[in-house]
Amino acid sequence: MMNGKLAHDEPMLPADTLRGQVAFITGGGTGLGLEIASQFVKLGARVVLASRNAERLEAAAKDLGGSDVAIACPADVRNYPEVRNAVEIAVKRFGSLDILVNNAAGNFFCPTAELSPNGWRTVVDIDLNGTFHCCHAAYEFLKRSKDGGNIISIITMNALSGWPGAAHAAAAKAGILSLSRTLAVEWGPDNIRVNTISPGPIADTEGVRRLYEERARADLERRRVALGRFGSKRDVANAAVYLASPFANYVTGENLVVDGGRWLKFVTQ
Ligand code: HXC
Repeated sequence: MMNGKLAHDEPMLPADTLRGQVAFITGGGTGLGLEIASQFVKLGARVVLASRNAERLEAAAKDLGGSDVAIACPADVRNYPEVRNAVEIAVKRFGSLDILVNNAAGNFFCPTAELSPNGWRTVVDIDLNGTFHCCHAAYEFLKRSKDGGNIISIITMNALSGWPGAAHAAAAKAGILSLSRTLAVEWGPDNIRVNTISPGPIADTEGVRRLYEERARADLERRRVALGRFGSKRDVANAAVYLASPFANYVTGENLVVDGGRWLKFVTQ
């Protein structure tokens, strides 16, 4: 707290906001997923990090405070039995599963005419099928969550506009938006809230590196944002914290746009 004003990187909610909650975070070993995990832990949650790279997951879990608060569960979200197994390990270790964050994603720039069917399938498999696998495997545990279950999936507003050069990712993310809205209604009676977050370009992430920086488009993309700058991982984690918290108890089926006004600028100019 500086001059009575909350600094951008201070916790925005009471330190025990997520106490007793167990979160399963895909792609939790790096980038946005790791930042979300870190903020969840600061607010009292225990986290399960899932992705393909066991070594990175172990290092991340250790940095987050070790096995009392964070464990690594290697799994490829494309593989349902692996996902199911990771979810069961998580519940066995921490006793419940309350929050699922579908953050794992694959993406690369490739004009559609040059995209191989396997390239298309790979991204749809990671993003859309992976999200379905995690939701499906987590459902029976989320509905037993004592405070209500929570699903948060990371998508992008490019899912709605289309995404020249990334048709696979845009289509997959649009599928996740639709799936989330369906599940919000189907699983509402089970007290499971289902929401999405649409980040804009976020500095220091694999996505911005691959899609913008490596293609020398970073300055152009910054100008396309109403606020004129890339977001931070913390900006997205704050949105995830809000959606996971009791402060969003009546929020479901929502897509929370955290893009610095990029979408609005796109449709108004
Ligand atoms: C064309 C490509 C390609 C490229 C892979 N392929 N990269 N085609 N251009 N740059 C094709 C391959 O040739 C192959 O098809 C098929 O895709 C599968 O490739 P593999 O390498 O075998 O797959 P795999 O090892 O499973 O890797 C998955 C991946 C990889 C998605 C391709 O990039 C990955 O693991 N990414 C994870 C990290 C990531 O992408 N993070 C960024 C997410 S960003 P063929 O036909 O040859 O067999 C994001 C939002 C960004 O989602 C928002 C920005 C604002």
